[in-house]
Amino acid sequence: MKAGIDLISFYSSNYFLDLKTLAEARGVDFNKFYIGIGQEKMALPPPDEDIVTMAASAAQPIIEKVGRENIELVVLATESCIDQSKAASLFVHGLLGLPKRCRAIELKEACYGATAGLQLAAAWVEKNPEAKALILASDIARYDLGSPGEPTQGCGAVAMLVSTKPRIMTLDPECGYHAEDVMDFWRPTYRGEALVDGKYSTRVYLSTIIEAWNQYRERSGRTLSDLARCCFHLPFTKIAEKAYERLAKACGLPSPTDADFELRLRESLRYNRITGNSYTASLYEGLNSLLDHSTADLSSQRIGLFSYGSGCMAEFFSGVVQPGYRQHLFTEKHLALLNNRTELTFQQYEDIFNYGVPEDGGNHSMAPYRTGPYRLAGIKDHKRLYEKSR
Ligand code: CAA
Repeated sequence: MKAGIDLISFYSSNYFLDLKTLAEARGVDFNKFYIGIGQEKMALPPPDEDIVTMAASAAQPIIEKVGRENIELVVLATESCIDQSKAASLFVHGLLGLPKRCRAIELKEACYGATAGLQLAAAWVEKNPEAKALILASDIARYDLGSPGEPTQGCGAVAMLVSTKPRIMTLDPECGYHAEDVMDFWRPTYRGEALVDGKYSTRVYLSTIIEAWNQYRERSGRTLSDLARCCFHLPFTKIAEKAYERLAKACGLPSPTDADFELRLRESLRYNRITGNSYTASLYEGLNSLLDHSTADLSSQRIGLFSYGSGCMAEFFSGVVQPGYRQHLFTEKHLALLNNRTELTFQQYEDIFNYGVPEDGGNHSMAPYRTGPYRLAGIKDHKRLYEKSR
């Protein structure tokens, strides 16, 4: 019996800022962003969108397709929590009308949380073969205005149904993981924006991939050429080339050419390049991008996946794409969303960034913006109130 991803769906905000606009306002050559870090646009959530509405909107197409039956585990992984106590998964559980016979929890380890959720869910469904798990990864990446991290902001959510009859990808049992106590990126509970030692974080990402890879290689006996494509955690898409280069070197292979990057990576970068960092959703956004864009049929092909969460946790694992996977993708929905977003001016971007959720315990309604099927309607007595927007 092989557990894995049965369905996968992605959602991001309907609003974006072009990094050319940001570059102009900050007096930077836009090619630093477009070429140097490989980012063109960043998605920004309007005031009536948060990690709950994004996660519920990502999950909605899955629920419409297969119903709610047998979903007995809901894990929401996030860095951008909305409550110190209540799990965001319970808000989503309510919005989606999921069965009461269910475990619903929130997981945190920076950008790695969803991978922990996915691996735990895969082991859990193997013990409970009739049950299904819904893994939600939802994040809003925020750095201080004018900081080096600013162009790597973004937002997005991915929902994955995990079962023992996966239609998209089975997960291989072998994985390599690495934990280390480092301060490369963190966000104390009193801050809305992450603190980061940018260059150091990149170095840690690129060194821990080798630790995780070496263990994966030992356990699986596979080498890089056994992986048809690779998907990486994408704080910015340029890091994928650097990571792939490191892996090639660790395997004693020649330095990858542009053609190698084109074949092995490019299709997995298309969504992240125009949404920005979605933290714990980012690796799975990349996987969704690959599945949605691959011109080659990936059936029965093995995909390498690297998950990195600052602090830090790194994991290299792999999965095999299932025959017929294409008929179970939500490609049209994803493209319709991303092709019809509203571009923000620089002023609108700063206004949205500076908008703070009211904290006075009063009765506040949120002005309606363009959202997915769910929105944050308001806040009353410190309670978030959600509603269906359509
Ligand atoms: N044209 C083309 N390229 C240009 C250019 C131009 N005009 N100007 C600069 N560049 C290139 C630089 O040469 C550099 O390329 P290399 O890295 O290949 O040398 C690249 O653009 C970036 O330039 P800088 O290094 O000068 O950029 P910076 O110091 O201003 O910021 C950053 C880069 C450190 C990644 C910053 O964006 C940051 O702090 N980001 C947030 C942290 C982050 O994303 N860390 C990643 C690892 S941690 C993680 O993965 C967890 C997570 O999600 C946060």
